[in-house]
Parts: sequence; C-alpha cells; structure tokens
Amino acid sequence: MSQQKEPIRVLITGAAGQIAYSLLYQIGKGDVFGQDQPLYLHLLDIPAMMGVLEGVVMEMMDCAMPLVCGVVPTADPVEGFRDVDAAFLVGAMPRKEGMERKDLLAANVKIFKVQGQALDKYAKKTVKVLVVGNPANTNALVCSKYAPTIPPENFSAMTRLDQNRAQAQIAARLGVGVDAVKNIFIWGNHSSTQYPDARHGVVKKGNDDIKMIDALPDQAWLQDQFVTTVQKRGAAVIAARKMSSAMSAAKAACDHMRDWWLGTPDGSYVSMGVLSDGSYNTPPGVIFSFPVGIKDKKWTILQGLSLDDFSKGKLEQTGQELIEEREEAFSVCAD
Ligand code: NAI
Repeated sequence: MSQQKEPIRVLITGAAGQIAYSLLYQIGKGDVFGQDQPLYLHLLDIPAMMGVLEGVVMEMMDCAMPLVCGVVPTADPVEGFRDVDAAFLVGAMPRKEGMERKDLLAANVKIFKVQGQALDKYAKKTVKVLVVGNPANTNALVCSKYAPTIPPENFSAMTRLDQNRAQAQIAARLGVGVDAVKNIFIWGNHSSTQYPDARHGVVKKGNDDIKMIDALPDQAWLQDQFVTTVQKRGAAVIAARKMSSAMSAAKAACDHMRDWWLGTPDGSYVSMGVLSDGSYNTPPGVIFSFPVGIKDKKWTILQGLSLDDFSKGKLEQTGQELIEEREEAFSVCAD
C-alpha cells in the first residue's frame, strides 16, 4: 500500500456564507488538492455566524468524506490562520443590488488588512492565498502589503469566474463543448472594466487546434457583445437571483486553486490576478489579472502576446481603475 500523504491545512473564511456552502464539499472530496491529499479544514466566520457555522459543520460530518481529517470552526483569527498551507479568503461584505464598488471597497479593505496581519503572524510562509471577497484584486494587494514576510507571489485574486463565463460564452456561440475552448483570458480588475479577451483562444475540432480568428471571425461580436456580456454577467445574476453568484464562484475558486496547486498543462494558460511587474505596459504594483502558466506551484505571466490598439486601450482603462482603488485602499488602511 502506498504511504498516505501528510494532511494539509486549508482555511476558508466566510465559511458560513453562500459561496463557502458550495466550496467546502468540492474541497473536501478532493477536487482541489488531489484525491490522495488528506486535509484539515479551518472554517472562519464572524461571531454572529457561529450558530449557522455549526450547521455547516454538521453537514460536513454527514458528507462522510474520507479525505477530511478534521474541521476547525472558529471566529478566532489566530486559530483560523494557524499553520495554514492554503487560504480561500471569501468572507467579506457582498455586493448588494445597486451598491457602488467604492462603498464596498471602504468596507472591505480593512478586513483584508487584519487578515494579512494574521497570515503574516500565524500561517506557513509558503501559504497560497486566493482572495475571492470583493473588491478581490485590491483586497489581495492590501492583504499582501500587511503580510511582508510572505512572498507577494503567494497572493492572488480570483478572475477565474470571469474566464469561465467567457469560455462558456464562446463555446455556446460556436456550438461546441466548453472543454473544446482554451486560452480565453481576463485582463485587469475583477470589475466591469475587466477585459475578456478571446483573440488568443484556441478551439479544438477533431484532432486540430483552430485559432479563434479562424473559428470565430466575427470581430464586431468579440469586441462588443462578448465583452459586455462577460463584464456584466455578475450584475445579471444578482438582478435575477437577488444574490451574487455562488455556485459558479465556488467552482471557479476550486479551478483557480487546483491549477495553482497541481499546475497547468503545457500550452494551456489561465487567468489569475497577480502582482503586476509591468508586463504589457500594465501598472506595476497592482494585482492585475494576466494569463499565467503554472508549474511547481509557481505562476509565470505568459509573455509575447501581441495586443492590438483596442486591447491596449482596454488594459489601460482597467489598470487605471486599479491604481485608483489602490490609492483609496491605502488611504483607508492608514486611518
Ligand atoms: P455571503 O454574505 O453569503 O457570505 C459572506 C460570509 O463572510 C458571511 O458568512 C459573513 O459573516 C462572512 N464574513 C464577513 N466578514 C468576515 C470576516 N472578517 N472574517 C470572516 N468571515 C467574514 O457572501 P458570498 O456570496 O459567499 O460572497 C462572498 C464574497 O465573494 C463577496 O465579497 C462577493 O462579492 C465575492 N464574490 C467574488 C467573486 C469573484 O469572482 N471574485 C464572485 C462572486 C462573489
């Protein structure tokens, strides 16, 4: 019999919330860290939610998942963050219908300052941090700033839901399965300024890889309807469901962390909000979504893509928004 792996510790904040409700099952059954990776789940929420969290813990137990060695429900950040190998920072104040991102930002960056400090003090230095709570990019930046002993490349923000949405739109338009479409990228902020970019995409037909430009030559649709549908998809779900995306957000969080943990296949790239080094003339020092390839738990920004003037303009616009968010966040944190 092969030797069992050492268990890892995985933190989920906002554990009593709606995204976590879908996320926990997928993590617990091995979809993220592998079918052979035992884990302890640290579930952090605020004191007022401890009753609800108790119910979630009962259900986790009732799922009878062999990989789950133990569950630690807590409102104490020290207990929550101690020795964690991976952290899904989901807990935040969710966007309600009609709420401006600015209001959301002020309310949320303070949470992420405190959590950055807790990560710095109690988590493993190798911890991989995925920020889901909005405004995700700027929250991730604040978190990293207040965790100076953890490498900045260990912090990321989720734009995978946007990528999944974009991929699904392209697949539907072409009448193919989603797995036939790859290398659809999200640039910039997880906000309505994000730039969903299908131009470097590839579509599998039989044994052939067809370039997007040949598979879907409708430039007008790609520049207009496709971009706005993906940009506004979150708002459309809120308008219909009266709550923000949860099932699809949890699935995307799993996709993001799984690829970070286990790597991406050669020639496949995924979108992740990571610290910009100025690639593609983006503003250095903000968390910007780029196409990345991942090997040995390290991401690398895909270089050498040619961007036309339309794309350059979109990258500039979303980069500018991230600069403004950074200024606002740092001034809120300094108070
Ligand atoms: P929810 O309101 O159902 O759950 C949030 C949970 O976080 C609540 O249980 C709340 O008590 C908890 N929480 C608040 N402050 C906390 C703190 N300081 N520490 C620990 N827990 C705390 O919200 P939902 O739907 O689960 O969404 C969570 C976040 O994810 C929101 O900010 C939402 O905007 C964001 N989101 C991000 C997406 C992305 O693509 N990046 C997609 C969808 C949602």
